Amino acid sequence: METKSEFFQTKAFIDGDFTPSESSSTFDVFNPYNSQLLASVADCNSDDALRAIDSAQRAFRLWKSLTGIERSKLLNRWGELMQIHKEELAEILTLEQGKPYREAIAEINYGASFVEWFAEEAKRVYGDTIPGELCNKRIIVIKQPIGVVGAITPWNFPNAMITRKVAPALAVGCTVVVKPSELTPLSALALGALANLAGIPKGVLNIVPSSKPSEIGNTFCNNDAVKKISFTGSTKIGKLLTSQSASTVKKLSLELGGNAPFIVFDDADLELAAQHAIAAKFRNAGQTCVSANRIFVQWSVYDEFLEIFTQKVSKLKVGNGLDANVDIGPLISEKAKQNVLRLVDDAVELGAKIFYQSKSKPKAESLMNPIVLTHLNPQMELFKKEIFGPIAPIYEFSTEQQVIELANRTPYGLASYFFGKDHSRIWSVAENLEYGMVGINTGMISTTVAPFGGVKQSGYGREGSKYGIDEFVSLKYLSWSI
Ligand code: SIN
Repeated sequence: METKSEFFQTKAFIDGDFTPSESSSTFDVFNPYNSQLLASVADCNSDDALRAIDSAQRAFRLWKSLTGIERSKLLNRWGELMQIHKEELAEILTLEQGKPYREAIAEINYGASFVEWFAEEAKRVYGDTIPGELCNKRIIVIKQPIGVVGAITPWNFPNAMITRKVAPALAVGCTVVVKPSELTPLSALALGALANLAGIPKGVLNIVPSSKPSEIGNTFCNNDAVKKISFTGSTKIGKLLTSQSASTVKKLSLELGGNAPFIVFDDADLELAAQHAIAAKFRNAGQTCVSANRIFVQWSVYDEFLEIFTQKVSKLKVGNGLDANVDIGPLISEKAKQNVLRLVDDAVELGAKIFYQSKSKPKAESLMNPIVLTHLNPQMELFKKEIFGPIAPIYEFSTEQQVIELANRTPYGLASYFFGKDHSRIWSVAENLEYGMVGINTGMISTTVAPFGGVKQSGYGREGSKYGIDEFVSLKYLSWSI
């Protein structure tokens, strides 16, 4: 074990205490770079989840009765502690997730920014007054915390995807039970330790690591005390949670899969477009829902863009996330790498060409050198599926109309990007892309201050920004006869 951090916790976090699972069973967490065992973590089952829900329900009575200013102070302290301990948190994150340490630090900053932002928003959960329909009527709208929230979070951002859900929930007065990914529970538990240190009352935040995600998900969905589920993960699981939540008519927010187009028009600044394509494609080894999945380049600048882009790809360093200067860490597992390679094989079988791939042999099984592919078409699996790996397919297109049709030819609608200068085209493309987020001359759209979320089968609900609050409140209107 390399890390000595006091935030390296391995037990479940329930009612303010780190506790073994009731069955005392554990599951193992490995470093994806070298498969070394990092920890054996409490393996929660449905009974543990129910314990956590009870604790969250008890804590809800107190937490919702605090003023927004009081909750704000505690959240601010939590965010400050994340910043103070960011090196330790980043090390845990890289060890269990694999991303380069530099990116792990960026994720902790990103994660803390949600806590800081929603600590401020806690003071501003404003209602409304509406002129009454009769002269003796006054109508007032108030926003109330919805109750206990079940948050189910992914392995690709083991810190920030938790704070992006938990911070707004806590800000408005909800309490939360988090089920982190079984691949990356350590970053989640570290957040629990910091919440304790910040003085967040017991039961307000609970964390139930488990190797049985479907059992915990089912418990959340079927439990009447859980009023809301916030999920980030695959569209398949999002659909399952939706159907399982029907019996309790739960409010849901779902941040699901993506298939982001990244379009380069002929009037784009190609150097800038290539630089941002690198960032949007290779962040977290391509394992993000907003990753540039299909890069479309207009025919007249195709060769030039390909040259600039490939030059940049050839400089990316693949290796252990803890080594300095590494740009691309391991994929989360060897199985994940096999899935990515299958997409490449399928494309090659259907006529794709490997335009660039480094010949150097990666030092570990889960590492993957980036690949640039050309001669692509929409029949290939990698046109339809989220690649989740360092593969950059560069498609050629001729007209705006054609590329909009290709970009929208997917059930997903999370992130999209395009580069170009013509103002009227910028408006029409931005309006015609069927996506919840559009980056215009930028490949970096993730920020606390903007509403993150998708349309179509990428889900619904928004995280971050002032809109992030809406997911955790219910509106109540008071009709007052005077
Ligand atoms: C995700 O991949 O789910 C989130 C990425 C981000 O917030 O930038």
